[in-house]
Amino acid sequence: MKAIVCTKYGSPDVLELQEVEKPTPKSNEVLVRVYASSVTAADCMMRKGTPFYGRLFLGLMKPNISITGTGFAGVIEAIGEEVKLFKEGDSVFGETGVGFSTNAEYVCLPEEGLLATLPNNMTYEEAASICDGALTSWSFLKDIGKIQSGQSVLINGASGSLGSAAVQIAKYFGAKVTGVCSTTNLEMVKSLGADKVIDYTKEDFTKTDQTYDIIFDTVGKSSFSHCQGSLKAQGGYLSPVLIPLLLQMMWTSNESKKAKFSATGLRPISELRGLLNELKEVIEAGKMKLVMDKSYPLEQTAEAHRYIDKGHKKGNVVITVKHNKS
Ligand SMILES: NC(=O)c1ccc[n+]([C@@H]2O[C@H](COP(=O)([O-])OP(=O)(O)OC[C@H]3O[C@@H](n4cnc5c(N)ncnc54)[C@H](OP(=O)(O)O)[C@@H]3O)[C@@H](O)[C@H]2O)c1
Repeated sequence: MKAIVCTKYGSPDVLELQEVEKPTPKSNEVLVRVYASSVTAADCMMRKGTPFYGRLFLGLMKPNISITGTGFAGVIEAIGEEVKLFKEGDSVFGETGVGFSTNAEYVCLPEEGLLATLPNNMTYEEAASICDGALTSWSFLKDIGKIQSGQSVLINGASGSLGSAAVQIAKYFGAKVTGVCSTTNLEMVKSLGADKVIDYTKEDFTKTDQTYDIIFDTVGKSSFSHCQGSLKAQGGYLSPVLIPLLLQMMWTSNESKKAKFSATGLRPISELRGLLNELKEVIEAGKMKLVMDKSYPLEQTAEAHRYIDKGHKKGNVVITVKHNKS
């Protein structure tokens, strides 16, 4: 089968389209014929091997698992003899996490992994992106931030993958939402339901009198110390970008205002499955949609990485995979 292989850390040029062996499902695994897979900001950082501490999980000198990609959607082509939850022909989506290997024509994963049937109102391209921004923002706002109806919530980076989902999730929970983005994305963020938008190229949200129960800095472009004055008493600053948040989390552990981080993909699989099922219900009820930016054929995965490296994607980027009729 065709797959995108990364055998060293570096620029998008390290990504190569190669012919590799098609995987065979173990007894507890399903084999998915991939129709779409995600390329994310996190994938680009993993390709670069930065920040360096990430290599403790990924491989010190080169990636331990060479086929890139974590999010996917497709159709189950075969199942192992012990598989009970899925059957051949099911349309599914999910994420392999540290198993990677989704930027390929086929991928295998355990039936008990992060795997679910495709929401009935979604394309494969949209579903392949759910486990990145949408699931991460769901985990941050609902579990880490404990968002409540009526709270005032600011989403920084409201036009990105996490941000575009976060605006909709905060609205779903009944919050009053302010989205921060650049001029070109103001209308898009408003259309997602934001009550107010701030153009970061014209105004610094920390320099107004407005205060928030939650500031979710989805792109880590601000900092807890910078935002502290904009948090209400007991308010929380959430960010999915670890550095320099780690030290700030330690400093604020006894304070009323807190900085919080979580690595969503490293949460126990049972918790992630629970979160994914909740989120899927919200999507199926038409309460949230995935914002889709560009789509690239598998052969052009390096181009997708180049685009994301620029730091201005709107929502999600996907890879599509064509299969010959058999
Ligand atoms: N901890 C976790 O579990 C976890 C999980 C997934 C991802 N992540 C991390 O989360 C981060 C965000 O991921 P993402 O995919 O949402 O990012 P993204 O989609 O690549 O972010 C791009 C967006 O950021 C906006 N942006 C750029 N500079 C900005 C600024 N100064 N202020 C406000 N917005 C700005 C851009 O808008 P403009 O074009 O308008 O500038 C663009 O729409 C990444 O660092 C990723 O690695 C963490």
